[in-house]
Amino acid sequence: MKIITVASLKGGVGKTTLSIFLSLALQSAKKKILAIDLDHNNNLTDFFLRDEEVDTIQEKSIGRVLKGALPIQESIFKSPLNVDIIPSVPELSQIAFELLFDTAAPLRFDSMLRNLKYDFVLIDTPPAISFELSCGLHVADTVLCPVGYSRWNIQGYSILESKVKRAGENKLFIGVPSSVTDKRVETLREGGLSLTKALIHKSEAIATASDSGKPLKEGSTSAEEFRILAKEIAKI
Ligand SMILES: Nc1ncnc2c1ncn2[C@@H]1O[C@H](COP(=O)(O)OP(=O)(O)O)[C@@H](O)[C@H]1O
Ligand SMILES: [Mg+2]
Repeated sequence: MKIITVASLKGGVGKTTLSIFLSLALQSAKKKILAIDLDHNNNLTDFFLRDEEVDTIQEKSIGRVLKGALPIQESIFKSPLNVDIIPSVPELSQIAFELLFDTAAPLRFDSMLRNLKYDFVLIDTPPAISFELSCGLHVADTVLCPVGYSRWNIQGYSILESKVKRAGENKLFIGVPSSVTDKRVETLREGGLSLTKALIHKSEAIATASDSGKPLKEGSTSAEEFRILAKEIAKI
């Protein structure tokens, strides 16, 4: 099993989009995938479990698992797109606040995950240094950070990189050029950041698919970009 956490200290950079479509691309490559929503904004949950009852999601959310009120196996939903999901609800921020000083919580989370049988676990996180992000970084083998090109993006990247290294020396931290144009990627690569070869261009198809809870059209330019990214990530 490999655990991939998608993180950035910036909001709106494509974390959830990357978590969703990378999960789907790995699933298409016949990998068994669990996607976990660790963001109280619960956009990943909304994408995959749009038709699920709110009360059922509430009962089986990641917050209840983190506080030890529910065994992790019981929180897993089978989504219609064949990616298993552990959902989040807005109350996660309250639970996270209560767990802030429970230093064993990230360790418990790690051992729960390592007992599951998946090829990849992908974790979406909120854009702030928080209990949820710390849990995500603690359990990660690889941390993927979507980066567009802006001075602020790059500043956030460096702060997160040092946080990841503090969470564990062997963790891989790598940027994924996301929602970019070719010209901007060139500038990004010259900036000396560690980035994937694969990149995700800005595309209306991605924005539409994520809004409508649908996968990308098979063979489309954007689906191909995620397929190539998935191939690169699977080899890391
Ligand atoms: N490559 C892309 N091309 C076009 N729109 C994108 C792309 N990546 C993300 N978006 C859009 O940008 C917005 C923010 O993306 P999101 O993944 O929610 O960011 P985050 O999780 O970092 O806050 C969403 O509306 C999403 O559809
Ligand atoms: Mg998000």
